[in-house]
Amino acid sequence: MIKLENLTKTYFGKGHKTEALKGINLEIRKGDFTAIMGASGSGKSTLLNILGCIDDFTAGNYYFKDVDVKTLNNKKLAKLRNREIGYIFQAFNLIDDLNIIENVEMPLGYGGVKAKERKKVATDSEIILADEPTGNLDSKTGEEVMEILKKLNNEGTTIILVTHDKKVAEYANRLIVLKDGEISEDSYK
Ligand SMILES: Nc1ncnc2c1ncn2[C@@H]1O[C@H](COP(=O)(O)OP(=O)(O)O)[C@@H](O)[C@H]1O
Ligand SMILES: [Mg+2]
Repeated sequence: MIKLENLTKTYFGKGHKTEALKGINLEIRKGDFTAIMGASGSGKSTLLNILGCIDDFTAGNYYFKDVDVKTLNNKKLAKLRNREIGYIFQAFNLIDDLNIIENVEMPLGYGGVKAKERKKVATDSEIILADEPTGNLDSKTGEEVMEILKKLNNEGTTIILVTHDKKVAEYANRLIVLKDGEISEDSYK
């Protein structure tokens, strides 16, 4: 479903640069439930943002369902982002009353996608990307969120989530650990 080849991301600052990702090779299969862990600053959010096509990359290749993302124009990229990829931003954890479908829907709301279609995308997204979805939640609500993600995964949704929490990572069947912009561990359960 997803293939990254030697993908790099460099942030250029004034007189310095940060190599946030240093040559990531990764394949995500349909139905995978992948947890990404790693120390703060290891590149987790950068990787997720690139996977979600909300950030660009510096070099390498990204294929989404065999399509070379680099060949997509802005319109096609927006369509991919808005209709095929569900994205749960960390910031939305602050809105604690929302259920996860609404959480998936809200970011999509900014893409100019109509409400009815948003609901469809939220429930039909082939892939959901989540950056610390339980980060600011109490443990009970966090567990509820994870149970919903697990249910969606059981129904065939591919899930990639970033977490610091080993208990949250337990829900996944694959664990990827990033260290200084590189994959230091990649294992299936
Ligand atoms: N917009 C940005 N501009 C410059 N540097 C950035 C930017 N975003 C992230 N970085 C740097 O890239 C590295 C990886 O960051 P990030 O992907 O946010 O890590 P993580 O999510 O694992 O904490 C860090 O060194 C961070 O400071
Ligand atoms: Mg992060």
